Amino acid sequence: MTHARILIVDNNVGAVRDLRDILAVDGYEVSSVQDSHDAGGYLERLPVDLILTDLSTEHDEMTCLRHLRGLCPTTPIVLMTAHGSLKTAVEGLKAGAFDYVCKPFTADEVRSIARRAVEQTHMLSEQSPPYETPPDDTSPFGNLVGSSPGMVHVYKAIARVAQTDSSVLLQGESGTGKELIARAIHANGPRCSGPFVTVDGGALADTLLESELFGHERGSFTGAVSSRKGLLEQAHSGTCFLDEVADLSPALQGKLLRVLQEKEIRRVGSTAATALDVRIIAASKLPLEPLVRSGTFREDLYYRMNVLTINIPPLRERLEDLPLLAKRFVHLYGAMKSPPVTELSTEALALLRRYWWPGNVRELEHAIERAVTLSPYSIICPEDLPPAIKDAAPESLARVQGWVTLEDLERDHILRVLDSHARDLGRSATILGIHRKTLLRKLRHYGVAAGYGVT
Ligand SMILES: Nc1ncnc2c1ncn2[C@@H]1O[C@H](COP(=O)(O)OP(=O)(O)OP(=O)(O)O)[C@@H](O)[C@H]1O
Ligand SMILES: [Mg+2]
Repeated sequence: MTHARILIVDNNVGAVRDLRDILAVDGYEVSSVQDSHDAGGYLERLPVDLILTDLSTEHDEMTCLRHLRGLCPTTPIVLMTAHGSLKTAVEGLKAGAFDYVCKPFTADEVRSIARRAVEQTHMLSEQSPPYETPPDDTSPFGNLVGSSPGMVHVYKAIARVAQTDSSVLLQGESGTGKELIARAIHANGPRCSGPFVTVDGGALADTLLESELFGHERGSFTGAVSSRKGLLEQAHSGTCFLDEVADLSPALQGKLLRVLQEKEIRRVGSTAATALDVRIIAASKLPLEPLVRSGTFREDLYYRMNVLTINIPPLRERLEDLPLLAKRFVHLYGAMKSPPVTELSTEALALLRRYWWPGNVRELEHAIERAVTLSPYSIICPEDLPPAIKDAAPESLARVQGWVTLEDLERDHILRVLDSHARDLGRSATILGIHRKTLLRKLRHYGVAAGYGVT
């Protein structure tokens, strides 16, 4: 018997009955409601391990999905979509669905998806320490994935700062999602109907960047054949995302500070000032404070930009988000392939979990995109992963961090007990004080199941 509760959201009585029959075989406790509104009422009273939903009769499918997502941010939601509506499925995944099944589906498809989703819920709840449920207002950040305490903290910070007009500084390693977060702040604030303009402080030579930023008048320098609005001016009434601020030269830092203080701008080669109404969101891979202390970054500019700071944790510090992120990318890229790639093997996931991710979410995204291209099957296996990840030593993550994770300790201990007891699963489970099924799940999770005769 599988002790898990599934909620079906579907107004088709026949379809619900069929699904109940299919799922009952595996021992799930199945309930159903007619629509997402009723689902809200149900979920307030009783949490579930999986939501299976057909939103096609709802007025606005994606809004309903986001509503459900907001009600229970960590519960997997599987969409049942009509045959051929891949676009809805992909949109659904972007809005936070765990997976989708296309109608008409087979009993095996539904069972397999339910098993994976429920396994994930159990895995997450075992690994994550209890934390506050994200507030409802996390749902608008639909394309940000992750339910770790670190990400919940980020969601709350976005919600808090979005409504203000203060400058925000986003600090996080490369690929941690700074731009995505900047866009979420813009999209959820009062300037959302204005432009969102990105300025990359690291991309251009100083003089070019100056005219890029502030604009120029015709003839102000060689090559300035016509007058041009700068990026800051283009962002008028919206948001200017100043990426890689640490790379700005001292001269540009000074000019930028003046603009932010005076709220007006002068094009290169012009004396006339134009009033400027922009919100600044700055981002840096490096923490700025040490740069201020060493004199590389202007203290006054730092304070002006850093009214509010959001620190985005690196992926290696929120590995519990990895399965969700990986799944998202498998579906995003896998759906574009023919035949589609739909799954990540347990062994491949285990390898992803022990890598230290210097390039964070972007590196994960690229690794999965590459694996999808290489995989000849519908499932990604270890050999499809980039060598750096596939061949990373098991303890690489812990070594990078300078300490051993609880999970590593647990895995080593479990394997030692098994090896000392002739790999007898029953005996080992008794010695470890856990249920045999829990032991099986852990072996699968660590990607060593096959070596212990477990399928
Ligand atoms: N929490 C997340 N959920 C989903 N996708 C994410 C998340 N964080 C990052 N990504 C994805 O990872 C990629 C990198 O994100 P982004 O460009 O926002 O990072 P960044 O911090 O600006 O990186 P860099 O410092 O290298 O510019 C993007 O494709 C983005 O969609
Ligand atoms: Mg970026």
